[in-house]
Amino acid sequence: MSAPKKLYIKTYGCQMNVYDSERMAETLGGQGYVETKTPEDADMILLNTCHIREKAAEKVYSELGRFKGLKAEKPDLKIGVAGCVAQAEGEEIMRRQPLVDLVVGPQSYHRLPEMEAKAGAGEKVLDTDFPEEDKFEKLKRRPKAKRGPTAFLTVQEGCDKFCAFCVVPYTRGAEVSRPADRILREAEDLVERGVREITLLGQNVNAYHGAGPNGDMTLAQLIWELDKVDGLERIRFTTSHPNDMMDDLIEAHGTCAKLMPYLHLPVQAGSDKILKRMNRSHTAESYIRLIERIRAARPDILISGDFIVGFPEETEEDFQATLDLVEEVKYGTAYSFKYSTRPGTPAAERAQVDPKEADDRLQRLQALLTRQQREVQDSMVGRELGVLFEKKGRFPGQMVGKSDYLHAVHVADCDAEIGDLRRVRIVSSGANSLAGELIA
Ligand code: 5AD
Ligand code: SF4
Repeated sequence: MSAPKKLYIKTYGCQMNVYDSERMAETLGGQGYVETKTPEDADMILLNTCHIREKAAEKVYSELGRFKGLKAEKPDLKIGVAGCVAQAEGEEIMRRQPLVDLVVGPQSYHRLPEMEAKAGAGEKVLDTDFPEEDKFEKLKRRPKAKRGPTAFLTVQEGCDKFCAFCVVPYTRGAEVSRPADRILREAEDLVERGVREITLLGQNVNAYHGAGPNGDMTLAQLIWELDKVDGLERIRFTTSHPNDMMDDLIEAHGTCAKLMPYLHLPVQAGSDKILKRMNRSHTAESYIRLIERIRAARPDILISGDFIVGFPEETEEDFQATLDLVEEVKYGTAYSFKYSTRPGTPAAERAQVDPKEADDRLQRLQALLTRQQREVQDSMVGRELGVLFEKKGRFPGQMVGKSDYLHAVHVADCDAEIGDLRRVRIVSSGANSLAGELIA
């Protein structure tokens, strides 16, 4: 038998890319590839790229340039670009960087084996189509390889919302939901392989409307089906849009024990003028009322958010409205960004805010969010929480897991195994994590 070929994948960006990279590694496993952590070892290098941040494409070109020496030493080395930069810049990548053998968009991963074979025969291959079929169904799985206790599972992809700043509707395409039976099968398979917690992924996950046995299902109905899977202990989902936060999903947060008390619900800004210009189709007031309804169903839920400051035409007064909204909601965690232009999106054409002003606003917002985050984390001290143990800690006998609220928790002298879900009393709160002790 010949030695297995080696695959090096570098993943940028969101959890959906992490999931996609796992699927690509599995499908190329069927072609005799095993993963390596060092590009120097690899027979194939894949960059699974993200287009959401500034200068994303430039970063990919500079990363590719670094493989020049490797390719010179090893002419058979294949280099591929996947993900959203591949989708957005496909042909341009091939033109600008002759090192690249294949370019594959996020909707075409199931065609990787064919593409790899063609690349192996010396062809340059590009596939950035949006085909109709369910790519995940077509991807080959490695038989029953053991997994860690947590996994991502993509249930929905793409977005029809067209927020004025965002590239996702262009790179990931229109919103598509996977049929429920396939998701359930995949979840059962993950659980058999050791997974205890599944995070359902989608750019607009709460707009899920996949086919079920009696017509389309909502995300809440899908969650209730997953709730029946024996051995699955925790369910999470991300990312949600405020407009798709349906009553049955809010209710499930109060009644489904496996659904964790954590909700990532980006608002982006607190000024109605800016929300309108962002094409968000909700107001600050409607968002705050929604949070109240969610908290009425599940009072302890931890709310997480995304914010953009310095969006075109944002005044100091508009920015103050964002600070006011944050004060009112109180976030347990948040991601905040300075607006940056994405060519091809509507906001890119508008008058931009002075970058120094935007920097200053970002700092002020982050100071407030960091303070809130710390307060919420500190409020866990003294409480008894479920912790799913994921790995060994840095010190002998120490284990690290995640609480129901997704805080990292360290436990010293811990007899729990990786994959155990145990009750833990939280005793202290540090810079980025909690410390606790096992109960019984
Ligand atoms: N500039 C700044 N932040 C952006 N995001 C998306 N596009 C941009 C942009 N052009 C942020 C939004 C989104 C998160 C994933 O990234 O807050 O929710
Ligand atoms: Fe982008 Fe999210 Fe808006 Fe869709 S809803 S356009 S993914 S920010």
